[in-house]
Amino acid sequence: MIYLDNSATTKPKKEVMDTFIKANEDYYGNPASLHKLGNTAENLLESARRQIAKELQMQHVVFTSGGTEANNLAILGTAQAYAHRGRHIITAVTEHPSVLKSVDQLEARGFEITRLPVDPSGSIDLDHLKTSLRNDTILVTLMQVNNETGAVHPVSEFKEILQGTRTFLHIDAVQGIGKIRMRTEDMPDLLTISAHKIHGLKGSGVLAFNDVQPEAIVIGGGQESGYRSGTVPVPQAAAFAKALRLARPNPEWGLWNKTLREFFGQFEDIKVISPESAAPHILSAAMKGVKGEILVSALQEESIIVSTSSACSSKNKETSHVIKAMGVPAAYQSGVIRLSFGAYTTEQDIAAFQHAFKKVHAIIKGV
Ligand SMILES: Cc1ncc(COP(=O)(O)O)c(C=O)c1O
Repeated sequence: MIYLDNSATTKPKKEVMDTFIKANEDYYGNPASLHKLGNTAENLLESARRQIAKELQMQHVVFTSGGTEANNLAILGTAQAYAHRGRHIITAVTEHPSVLKSVDQLEARGFEITRLPVDPSGSIDLDHLKTSLRNDTILVTLMQVNNETGAVHPVSEFKEILQGTRTFLHIDAVQGIGKIRMRTEDMPDLLTISAHKIHGLKGSGVLAFNDVQPEAIVIGGGQESGYRSGTVPVPQAAAFAKALRLARPNPEWGLWNKTLREFFGQFEDIKVISPESAAPHILSAAMKGVKGEILVSALQEESIIVSTSSACSSKNKETSHVIKAMGVPAAYQSGVIRLSFGAYTTEQDIAAFQHAFKKVHAIIKGV
């Protein structure tokens, strides 16, 4: 099987699994317990936290059950904690459902939400962001890299725009971390990451933050300094720190991306959806008048694994909100497939994809 669906999830690295297994065997105590086993587990947990904080250059690291929960905590938690300052939040229409549903819920509770539109390249208009800011805007929540198209948002420019205001910036960096570099000076007030997109484990996320105190949304025993209750899964935390330390962008992704853009360019009924400026590890393209599901299953017959626009929307029959928002022509909207590279992708995989796609395309066209 040639796996080109690394934006849906990645295979855990062996080193990550080794850390996870060792932590389960030797550090299984509850980090909140007072005895020795509890203490050693707590030491491992705090060391994982320090390593992640250092990698991200952020002060606070809270472990969550994944990127979804970290986004919920960033948005619902910040809104709850700072509602006395204002009740206006800005986001974009192409965000992940864990962001969009959080702001929908806040809207139902009386917050005002500005959802910025995007242009055909998936970018928001920075002037529109500036003019949308108000005295009562408490949070701007935007993603770094779009999960369906790889479109990159200019985080440094968002920071610049918010400088001197009291508005917090939250960045969902689930698809960007370890893939494209983020400068220390560009780090936002709140940052979401998820382990399973960087060859770590599923069910393991982090909300990192500086100078902001989101109110807990998972409440109970007060673990994680009260920000997230529940017994902390120390082995997952240690495995996440390991995965993050090992995560590196691969310069070959850009070359393969270019090769595939040229390859798709040979077919007059294929449209590349990802903008030229997109992150190199994600490439989406659409075939005219054909359903993405048909392409995905025909490619699978050739041992190639890709997805339709995103893993969360792939079982959902509706056209993706991202594809619609970018104004992709109707004839292409349901024919989107997404290829995404990871640490184990090779040049041979890219060549095998091209070979299989040519065959599948010819079968679908009946030639
Ligand atoms: C951009 C983005 N944000 C958040 C998430 C949610 O992360 P998790 O699967 O860890 O809940 C995803 C997952 O696909 C994502 O792509």
